[in-house]
Amino acid sequence: MSRDKIIVIDFGGQYNQLVARRVRECNVYCEIYSYKTSLDKIREMNPRGIILTGGPDSCYTEGAARCERELFNLGIPVLGLCYGAQLMMHVLGGHVCKAPVREYGRIEVTIDPSAPLFANVSEHTICWMSHNDYIEKTAPDFQIIAHTNDCPAAAMQCVERNLYAIQFHPEVLHTVEGTKILWNFVRGICGCAGDWRMDAFVANSVEAIRQKVGKGKVLCALSGGVDSSVAAVMLAKAVGDQLTCVFVDHGLLRKREGDEVEEVFGPSGPYDLNFVRVNAQERFYEKLKGIEEPEQKRKIIGEEFIRVFEEEAKKIGTVDFLVQGTIYPDVVESGLGGESSVIKSHHNVGGLPDYVDFKEIIEPLRDLFKDEVRRAGLELGIPEKLVYRQPFPGPGLGIRIVGEVTAEKVHMVQEADAIYREEMAKAGLDKSVGQYFAALTNMRSVGVMGDERTYDYAVALRAVNTVDFMTAEAAELPWEVLGRVASRIVNEVEHVNRVLYDCTGKPPGTIEFE
Ligand code: XMP
Repeated sequence: MSRDKIIVIDFGGQYNQLVARRVRECNVYCEIYSYKTSLDKIREMNPRGIILTGGPDSCYTEGAARCERELFNLGIPVLGLCYGAQLMMHVLGGHVCKAPVREYGRIEVTIDPSAPLFANVSEHTICWMSHNDYIEKTAPDFQIIAHTNDCPAAAMQCVERNLYAIQFHPEVLHTVEGTKILWNFVRGICGCAGDWRMDAFVANSVEAIRQKVGKGKVLCALSGGVDSSVAAVMLAKAVGDQLTCVFVDHGLLRKREGDEVEEVFGPSGPYDLNFVRVNAQERFYEKLKGIEEPEQKRKIIGEEFIRVFEEEAKKIGTVDFLVQGTIYPDVVESGLGGESSVIKSHHNVGGLPDYVDFKEIIEPLRDLFKDEVRRAGLELGIPEKLVYRQPFPGPGLGIRIVGEVTAEKVHMVQEADAIYREEMAKAGLDKSVGQYFAALTNMRSVGVMGDERTYDYAVALRAVNTVDFMTAEAAELPWEVLGRVASRIVNEVEHVNRVLYDCTGKPPGTIEFE
C-alpha cells in the first residue's frame, strides 16, 4: 500500500491527537511527533505535508516550543494551527503579541473563498477560537485569507511556498467546516491519494504478520476487550493454529462475558486457533478475601493475573512472538509519539513480557486510534457486540464492588448490571451514552418487601458522557428508564433492596467507584 504520510508536529496543545484523527478521516495516514524531532528525521520520513499544532506557549517568550526556520524551506507544504500559525509567522518574520481581545469559543470567521485552503467553504463560517496572542503582522509574502471582528489575521497563505496558517482550530467539531479545510490541505494542497482505508490496512497487516511469523509460535493474552480481540483475530487470520490465545477468567467479568469470549474464540467459533480458557475464579476470590482497600485489590488482581498467565505460558513452552494490543494513543501517551504530558494512569495487565519466554513482540494495532481499531474489527468480521463493547477496567468488577469482593457480591453486581444493560439497549440508549454500569455499594439499609423487613445492599447505577474519559458528566437518563431498571433490580436480584443513581461528574468523582 502506498503510504502517503502527513506528519503532525506536536507543540503540546490539547487537541493534538484530534488533529491526527481528523486527517485520518480524510483517508490519509498520519503520525504525531514532538516538536523536538530533528529536521533530518523529518526529511527521512518524506511526508507529503506537515501540520503544526496548537500549544500552551507564547512563541515570543524565552524557552517556548520552537521549530527551525529550515522546516519551511523543505519544499513540503506546511499548515500551522493556532500556536503553530503564530510560530510560523514569528519564525518567518511576522509579529505576534498579546491580543487586545482574547478570543474563545465559536466565532464567525470571514474567509476568502478563492484560497485553496477554503475551497467549498462558506464565506462566513463558524470556527473554534482559543487564543490569547494574535498575529499583529504577517510574515513577508503572506496574504491574509480570513479575519474576524477581533482578529485581523485569522488565516494566511504564501501559495508559492505552500505555507498556510490558521488561527482557529479546524480539528474541533465546533468548527463547522473544519473537516473540509483539513481535507483541502491534505488531499488538495498536499495531493495525498486518500488510500488509508481499513480494508487495505487489514489485508496488508495480515500478510505482513504472516511473513514475519513464518513457522513461528505466537502467544496472545486475550482479555475479551476490543483491542486484544481485534489483535487476536488478526493473528488468527494470519497464522491460524500457530497461535495460542490464553484467556484468564478471573471471575470478575460481566454476566456471561467469559462464555461470549469463548463462543467467538473457542473451538466452536469461526477461528482455528488454540484457545485456552483458564477458569481461575476461585483463586482470585481466595486472594481477595478480607481485602477492602481499592489499590490493594487492584494490585492483587494484577499480580494474580500475571501468575496465572505465566503458569499457562510455561505449559506452552518457548514461543517466538507475544502479541500485545497496544494502540496509537498508548504510543503517544507513553511519550514515544508527541509532546503529550499525559501519563497513562490505567494499565490493563502490565509487565507480561518480563514473565514469558519469547523473542519478539507483535503489536498489530500500534498505528490505530480506537475508532480505527473498531473499524478493523468489523472488517475482520468480529461481531458488533464485541467491537462496540464499552471500556471495561482490567480489574473488572473487583473495582465495582466497594469493599470486600465475594462470589455472592460478584453475582449480585453481574445480575444488576445485566438488567441495566438490557434496559438501556431496549430504550435505544446503549450506543449514545459513553459508559454505563452497575456497581455494588458497601451500604446496607432497611427496606420492606411484601410485608417483610429487609436489610440489604444498595446498587448504584452510573452513566457518563465523555469524550476522553479524563473528564465526564453524569448522563441525564430518562426517569422512566431509571425507574424500570430500579424496579427490576430490586425485584430480580436477591439481597438488593435499593437502587441509587450517581449524579457526580468527573472531577470530582471518577468514573469507576474505586
Ligand atoms: P476512572 O475511574 O479513572 O476511569 O475515571 C476512567 C476510564 O478508565 C477505565 N479504567 C480502567 N481501565 N484498567 C483499565 O484498563 C484499569 O485499571 C482501569 N480503571 C479505570 C474506566 O472504566 C473508565 O473508562
